[in-house]
Amino acid sequence: MNSNEIRQTFLDFFREKQHRIVPSAPMVVKNDPTLMFTNAGMNQFKDIFLGNQPAQSPRVADSQKCLRVSGKHNDLEEVGHDTYHHTMFEMLGNWSFGDYFKKEAIAWAWELLTERYKLPVDRLYATVFEGSPDEGVPFDQEAYDFWAERLPAAHILRGNKKDNFWEMGDTGPCGPCSEIHFDLRDDAERQAVDGASLVNKDHPQVIEIWNLVFMQFNRKANGSLEPLPARHVDTGMGFERLCMVIQGKKSNYDTDVFQPLLQELARMAGVSYGKEEKKDIAMRVIADHLRAIAFSIADGQLPGNVKAGYVIRRILRRAVRYGYTYLGFTEPFICRLVPTLVAQMGGQFPELKAQQQLIEKVISEEESSFLRTLATGINLLDSIIKKLPASGAERTIGGTDAFTLYDTYGFPIDLTQLIASEQGVKVDIEGFERELEAQKNRSRNASAVETDDWVDVLPVERSEFVGYDHTTYKGVHIARYRRVTSKGKSHYQIVLDYTPFYGNMGGQVGDTGYLLDPATGERTVITDTKKENNLTVHIASALPADLGATFEAFVDTDRRMASAANHTATHLMHHALREVLGTHVEQKGSLVTPEYLRFDFSHFQKMTDEELRAVERRVNAAIRANFVLEENRHCTMEQAKELGAMMLFGEKYGDTVRVVKYGHSVELCGGLHVPATGNIGLFRIVSEESSSAGIRRIEAVTGRAAEEMCEQQNDVIKELMAALRTNQVVAALKKLTEENAEMGKQIAQVRQDRDRFMVEKLMGFAEPFGDFSLISRQLDIMPESVKNIALELRGRIGNGAVVFGSVFGGKPTLTVALSDSAVEAGLNAGAIVREAAKLIQGGGGGQPHFATAGGKSGDGIEAAITAAIDLIKAKLNA
Ligand code: ALA
Repeated sequence: MNSNEIRQTFLDFFREKQHRIVPSAPMVVKNDPTLMFTNAGMNQFKDIFLGNQPAQSPRVADSQKCLRVSGKHNDLEEVGHDTYHHTMFEMLGNWSFGDYFKKEAIAWAWELLTERYKLPVDRLYATVFEGSPDEGVPFDQEAYDFWAERLPAAHILRGNKKDNFWEMGDTGPCGPCSEIHFDLRDDAERQAVDGASLVNKDHPQVIEIWNLVFMQFNRKANGSLEPLPARHVDTGMGFERLCMVIQGKKSNYDTDVFQPLLQELARMAGVSYGKEEKKDIAMRVIADHLRAIAFSIADGQLPGNVKAGYVIRRILRRAVRYGYTYLGFTEPFICRLVPTLVAQMGGQFPELKAQQQLIEKVISEEESSFLRTLATGINLLDSIIKKLPASGAERTIGGTDAFTLYDTYGFPIDLTQLIASEQGVKVDIEGFERELEAQKNRSRNASAVETDDWVDVLPVERSEFVGYDHTTYKGVHIARYRRVTSKGKSHYQIVLDYTPFYGNMGGQVGDTGYLLDPATGERTVITDTKKENNLTVHIASALPADLGATFEAFVDTDRRMASAANHTATHLMHHALREVLGTHVEQKGSLVTPEYLRFDFSHFQKMTDEELRAVERRVNAAIRANFVLEENRHCTMEQAKELGAMMLFGEKYGDTVRVVKYGHSVELCGGLHVPATGNIGLFRIVSEESSSAGIRRIEAVTGRAAEEMCEQQNDVIKELMAALRTNQVVAALKKLTEENAEMGKQIAQVRQDRDRFMVEKLMGFAEPFGDFSLISRQLDIMPESVKNIALELRGRIGNGAVVFGSVFGGKPTLTVALSDSAVEAGLNAGAIVREAAKLIQGGGGGQPHFATAGGKSGDGIEAAITAAIDLIKAKLNA
């Protein structure tokens, strides 16, 4: 079977077992503060396990794109060095939400592996949880017994908490698990060493392929386990490993999932895969990382400087670095592998194909910029190494330098070590680690947020949003709350049973307002509202006195309306952009606040003024058309597609979606909108600029803010007209500029003539002093002219000195110029001005033959001139 057949067989098998096949959720996670990337198939079902959300179907199966590069599940360092870990991988999973449990999960896993995939039984091992008495979780006898019906006792192993108790993160759903392992080794090796002794021992050919998790608990923030409302099954099978096993390979990279990429890469690098360990590792790293990066970009996560964006940037840099060091790539190369990836996976994952151009562009720019950084860093490293002594123990690069290279230039420490070792230099690793630790502590302290466990007030399991229809709502109760502390300050998060408050989502900021306790008149101010997974969380600095009261909820309607107008305008603009620029325009980011809107989208060059004007016009035309909101809150995906709704990659859509339509703009959207486009009033684009490679950013305003923008522009024009005394401001300004330039030229000419004239005149003032001639004068003209004149005189005077003082624009300057013979006689213009300028409270200097000094007080300028002449005379006398 090729990999596509293997995937399909899995999905078909579980469809036969009454599972509904669902699409992969995006790999990039939004709305969950505990997670940046999907790290397991169950993430998208977290709220179902926790009982926050009902399951649409009791049985579900899928292939989920996962990324394990941060947090609890992080395989980054292993990737490439071994043959079976990946950053991005596909996890095949089947789920039971309160439906079947261990018996069926084990029976079906067995049936699929041994009967459909026909894996040999004698190479399979199962593990079960040995139990954890201190947490009150017993040995999993049940799972053991089901396995014992299928496997000999020697193939059923007991595992500890690390291997056989699965947890999503520090908190969240968890439970004992049963893993299935496969022994790939040759018969001879299998006879020599018992496979059971190699299970869970990091042996590259005795590997876990499937994990069956029996979800029973929720791990709370205080570390304790709480039983879940129901028992569930969560399974995850590593797709790439399964392919290896079924295709009889010894490495995931030898399967058809990776071979096309590796072959293309080898061709580009002019090497062969499988010849040299270091090059092979590099090629595996690059093939793996390319997938992670390409899928992240397709899901809307671009490389950046913070959070998820930084993780992606680091993965990309890691790949570049391996290619640079081991395969000799000095120009962008990863972007050139994108077509191969798209050819191979674009069928199963259309988001890749649709965004190929963007993915290539983003990767290529990132590569170029990092390759430049690498070059700069390598130069820096060379200069550090050059400064080291020629020999001895001091030939070590200090920890601080190594850290700077790492932190500022993105140099992994092993790269620094590699380059250093090529020149016989060591690196102070301990010093580096100390710096790294210090930095970690700094950011840990800066971002430390402590979140207490939820306190349940009401036993409700829902938090219903009624805000599409209401901005005030009576009869509201607090369902639960918790305290969050950060930097010594606490606030509360409150969940209500019903709420009109919109939680920040899809780029639109959350509502503010207050909760009123009508019994006491007490108001609890809601400063913000957030959406966390499926919960609407209200932020308040204090809790109401009576938590059990029946409240009335009031949303700040002015803010709400302004932000709704901006959101609707965003839809209209999105539509207009696609009409004006083309359908390659895809939303890549959106921020909607009461004040303005910001919209990022894929497009590959700067928009022209005409294009911007065209977009603005279309949006304003749609506003005047006063399209009424046509909303369908419970549309199936099929219906939505028929309506022509724009689907965004990287968004997770439920079984039913909300469709928001105004005229020709149709989007899937959960946000707040105006009743009709006329409510927007006016739309103005404020700016258009590059946001990052391949992405443009528009900021715009609507309504009153757009009006204000017009007013301000009008004011400027009016002021201009008044100042220029004409309505034809542009013509007047052009004329002024031309006249100004002409006058400038004339003034320069006049000055030159005057300076020449002054030189002649000043020559006549020369006083003899011995063999020397001295000229001194106060000249209150531009410093530049003073300088020109002084230098001109110096050339003409023979043996001598020139001293000028000038006060121009209120600033005094002392200038001294000496003939070469004067300098030879021991005079120094710099020393003279420094001394004499004290009288104008100034300082300065210059060369021995010419120097100037500026001062603060013009009062002493005459005295300073005299002092300079006296100094010259005294020196000449001497
Ligand atoms: N959630 C389980 C895992 O990721 C299946 O291994």
